[in-house]
Amino acid sequence: MFKIHVYKSVDEVSQKAFEIVKKIVDVDHPVTLGLATGSSPVGMYARLVEDHEKNGTSYKQVSSYNLDEYVGLPKGHLQSYLSFMNENLFDYVDIPRQNIHMPSAHSDDLKKDAQEYSKAVLAAHVDVQVLGIGSNGHIGFNEPGTPFDSITHVVALKEETRQDNARFFNSIDEVPEYAVSMGITEIMAAKKIVLIAIGNKKALAVKEMIHGKIREEVPCTILQKHPDVVLILDKEAASLLDD
Ligand code: F6R
Repeated sequence: MFKIHVYKSVDEVSQKAFEIVKKIVDVDHPVTLGLATGSSPVGMYARLVEDHEKNGTSYKQVSSYNLDEYVGLPKGHLQSYLSFMNENLFDYVDIPRQNIHMPSAHSDDLKKDAQEYSKAVLAAHVDVQVLGIGSNGHIGFNEPGTPFDSITHVVALKEETRQDNARFFNSIDEVPEYAVSMGITEIMAAKKIVLIAIGNKKALAVKEMIHGKIREEVPCTILQKHPDVVLILDKEAASLLDD
């Protein structure tokens, strides 16, 4: 079930997402967060950091599981999702390092690691999963056609996703072709989902997510079956929704 919030500015979008996550971090102890990278949650993370610094909100009892990680980037690469999380959140709050979990992207047996990650995420009972959405409707890196019963797996990134993410690299050639992503199963198992969508490029995917037929060709449509999804949209991302 969707609760939909539409705001005029990206600042208001970020503020709303921040308020929801902060409330859970404040109230529930211990807490498990499911986290996303990408541009959509950046303003939310900035507010969480500011709030930690100003108000002392503590992450000592927080564990985190990230949605995905690129395969093929050297450890510590600036565009790895671990680097992103360090720069946007982990380095600035008091979350214990051992509580931070990213999908393994550097082992000889990525498939086995992915299965173990899936078990760990499910056992951790994510309290709130933060999501962005791809212009093609992907959630995590569950690209169009991913089975709804998928668990954490190695993904070949679609061309449009590599194009979308090329802005973070010097050129499209540097964008990895593979990633490890939580599956739809782990995302749907989260108690609550907060999905942030900003900009015109997301408008069609947002419309499909809410009104489209539930189908694997548009992965986000599965969210119609989740009992507690908060959609936080700017007016561009909401531009194809009826009033
Ligand atoms: C990131 C992730 C992706 C992004 C999506 C939107 O961890 O799993 O699904 O959320 O590609 O990316 P942005 O926010 O950069 O538009």
